[in-house]
Amino acid sequence: MTEAVLPPIGMLAELTHRCPLQCAYCSNPLELLKANREMATEDWLALFDQAADLGVLQIHLSGGEPTLRQDLETLVRRLSDRGVYTNLITAGVGIREGRIDDLARAGLDHVQISFQGAVAATTEKIGNYRDAHVKKIGTAEQVRAAGLPLTINAPIHRHNIDEIPAFIELALELDAERLEIANVQYAGWALLNRNTLMPDRAAVERQVNVVREAQERLHGILAIDFVTPDYFAIYPKPCMGGWARDAFMVAPDGTVLPCHAADTIPGLVFDRFGEKSLADIWHGSSAFNAFRGTDWMAEPCRTCDRKEIDWGGCRCQAMAIAGNAAATDPACIKSPLHARMAALIEEATTSRQDVFHYRRIARSMADHACDATEA
Ligand code: SF4
Ligand code: FES
Repeated sequence: MTEAVLPPIGMLAELTHRCPLQCAYCSNPLELLKANREMATEDWLALFDQAADLGVLQIHLSGGEPTLRQDLETLVRRLSDRGVYTNLITAGVGIREGRIDDLARAGLDHVQISFQGAVAATTEKIGNYRDAHVKKIGTAEQVRAAGLPLTINAPIHRHNIDEIPAFIELALELDAERLEIANVQYAGWALLNRNTLMPDRAAVERQVNVVREAQERLHGILAIDFVTPDYFAIYPKPCMGGWARDAFMVAPDGTVLPCHAADTIPGLVFDRFGEKSLADIWHGSSAFNAFRGTDWMAEPCRTCDRKEIDWGGCRCQAMAIAGNAAATDPACIKSPLHARMAALIEEATTSRQDVFHYRRIARSMADHACDATEA
């Protein structure tokens, strides 16, 4: 039976694709938008008003690097005035002294800073940015001095998986409330770099033990969220909490998408804010309705007792691995293609391809082939 469409709770606003870092694990699309494709301040303000009217309670301000938007304080102030909780997701480099205070005064509620490594050499290599680590530490100190809660985000892959104990120490030293140990999701640039980023099974098993032990030991001191690696799982995660169920994202040009990789699914048509209202898109967009609820599911999901737990997993992963966005996510042990995950791990870890295709704006796929750097 088709369920009523409830209002969204969360929204990811990719304010810009510009970024000083070039992380090879980035989940942004390969075709990044230049600054001249970004929505103007007034458009973002109108979109945020409509989001608040629609029922959105929290907005993650992301990118790219959202602090490259000089109007960020204006955007935060509007959201704060509308009672929407704001989380700034930043790489934490190139932020001028006093900017975090300005954002706190504008009403910012929370800051999340990504660290590409727990030590300077790894952070600089993965992000391809000199002095990134020390700059991030400086930004984290500004966040705490401004009285804002801080989350450290650690995107995990083969090149930093053994730094997890050091990530935990770093989060404690920086007085963070929360550490997110987030195994890389293979979409966008991360999918392009999958063979370089995939950890081996022994390293994944080690990390599970380290994280579980730390979660118990630091209970009440540091909250540790653990985003486990899909390729090693037996059941998939409910990607985005279920397709168009309670969250969505907006690209820098105002394209409204159910998730960050939805445009890799052929045949879906995405609406742009301004051409339609946010309410019309949330309720009526053909792309949002394509995989909403459970009616679209085939077996084994259709009769599975987990179908309203994981909502069939990730449509974009099904597209990337099964070649069919309506298939059961191959991360699921019940998928006839589940063995493909193990084969992809094997392929990646035996090839030990150690070149990074660094994230860049306005590079064609032909360029990616010759834009590789030894890891
Ligand atoms: Fe989830 Fe479908 Fe697997 Fe069931 S069969 S656990 S609903 S992905
Ligand atoms: Fe699109 Fe998971 S990234 S549904």
